[in-house]
Amino acid sequence: MKKKITLIVSLIVVAALAVTVFAACGKTNTTGNDTSDSSASTSGSAEKKTLTLATSADFPPYEYMEGDQYKGIDIEVAGLIADKLGCELKVSNMNFDAVLTAVPAGKADMGMAGLTVTEDRLKNLDFSDSYATGVQVLIVKEGGKIASVDDLYDESKDLGKGLKIGVQLTTTGDIYLSGDVSQKKTNVEVKEYKAGADAVMALVSGKIDAVLIDNEPAKSFVKANDGLKILDGEYVKEDYAIAFAKNSPIKDQVNAALKELIADGSVQKVIDKYIPAE
Ligand code: ARG
Repeated sequence: MKKKITLIVSLIVVAALAVTVFAACGKTNTTGNDTSDSSASTSGSAEKKTLTLATSADFPPYEYMEGDQYKGIDIEVAGLIADKLGCELKVSNMNFDAVLTAVPAGKADMGMAGLTVTEDRLKNLDFSDSYATGVQVLIVKEGGKIASVDDLYDESKDLGKGLKIGVQLTTTGDIYLSGDVSQKKTNVEVKEYKAGADAVMALVSGKIDAVLIDNEPAKSFVKANDGLKILDGEYVKEDYAIAFAKNSPIKDQVNAALKELIADGSVQKVIDKYIPAE
């Protein structure tokens, strides 16, 4: 009798664990208009649940495409998290501004896109621990008009006036610079692009005078295009973290997995692979 009870108890424990693991993942499929939530049924399904990642694969080395493959730090870290939770990672690629709306709308389980934690974003998103940092830098043409970041703000030279600065729509670069313009701290004209690479192309072809973007993507873009450089300057550090809808049911499990991956050095290993020490 005792044996039987132990067996039943352990079966219940196993079942409960299975539910927790499955509950950690999102719906089986989020494509199309299927709104049915399959996470409710967990029994007998051999199919792995998916963990849907909203990202904007235009931001090397954090996320980018190589042929039809998703590559980058965020993609690999998300993959490690999915492995830990027993889920299959599904990447949902979109423009960066769409990531910021898809995640709170529950269209993806989480967002990773070199995404900076800001006070404003905390109003409609929850964030994991930070797993990386970045700073906004200015890319200019070698021998161009702008010699330092201060030039944008220097009224005596009146350089800000007439300068066009490219940013990626709704990124922190956009928010900070547009904020400075509306507070009349600078007279530059902010030009918003869907992707950082579009802003860089505009810089290369002389349509704008600089691009304000995160330092690591900036390095990639400078490397990929002749005649560009990054201006020296003291920049404010930003924390990158995973974004979730408010009160997301999977946030705690994803964050616990992330904590483990940070503690055991796995995250650093991925970062070092993509950002080799100089
Ligand atoms: N760190 C900046 C922000 O959060 C830029 C992120 C852009 N990411 C991307 N995948 N394009 O606003």
